[in-house]
Amino acid sequence: MDHFLTPAQLHAETAGLSIAATLAWLTERHPGAVTFSSSFSYEDQVITQIIAAHNLPVSVFTLDTGRLFSQTYTLWQTTRQTYDLSIKAYYPDAAVLEAFVETNGPDAFYQSVEHRKNCCHIRKVAPLQRALSGHAVWVTGLRAEHSPNRENLGLFEWDEHNRIIKYNPLLHWDTAAVKEHIRKHHVPYNTLHDQGYVSIGCAPCTRAIKAGEDFRAGRWWWEDNSKKECGLHRHPSIST
Ligand code: ADX
Ligand code: SF4
Repeated sequence: MDHFLTPAQLHAETAGLSIAATLAWLTERHPGAVTFSSSFSYEDQVITQIIAAHNLPVSVFTLDTGRLFSQTYTLWQTTRQTYDLSIKAYYPDAAVLEAFVETNGPDAFYQSVEHRKNCCHIRKVAPLQRALSGHAVWVTGLRAEHSPNRENLGLFEWDEHNRIIKYNPLLHWDTAAVKEHIRKHHVPYNTLHDQGYVSIGCAPCTRAIKAGEDFRAGRWWWEDNSKKECGLHRHPSIST
């Protein structure tokens, strides 16, 4: 694991620290090499607010698939203005995407899991690899409550595929705590949440859910549950 501490060591070193203090500690240990991926979800907005409120030297990026909801683009614009924050956007490789769409059509993801995973790879996973390159720590908004797969994650993880330490600060927060933080700190959030959307990704692959449905029931709803990951988050307990 190169010069990195193991997840267990990181856990021990940061025990008892707040999220802001843990991020500060990580940025001191890895100057200029701590980066946060935001999809502008509820969770990501909480982390953004913490980074901005404490003026932490954590870079922020988003993966613009080109298929996001207009409400997500509006929130992106509002967020950068509210927090006077630079948010770097990563885009799919134009030539690869052009070839994929020409061969398979713009909405090929509905035709097969293979096409869906290829679309996610081109629009999210490959740009993610560029975004993480040269960094030591990747901060995410993953929560254990999101899915049974995510219950087995740790606060810190070693991502062997991307060779990076992952820090999931909200892993053990419940939905009520996330919403309370949003309310208390007047954090801007995606207005789709007020229309029954819970987990929000690309527009053609996300729908609102009904009371009692799983957190991620609105993502790739036409696929079987075991396939509902896009390949961004690799872990032995997450099938990609
Ligand atoms: S996904 O794997 O199903 O797409 P999910 O939407 O639950 O992920 O988001 C979990 C975390 O992955 C987010 O908190 C964020 O850190 C990261 N993430 C997901 N989508 C994006 C995106 N488009 N841009 C940047 N980060 C993202
Ligand atoms: Fe493509 Fe849908 Fe994956 Fe977005 S979520 S990258 S549109 S398959």
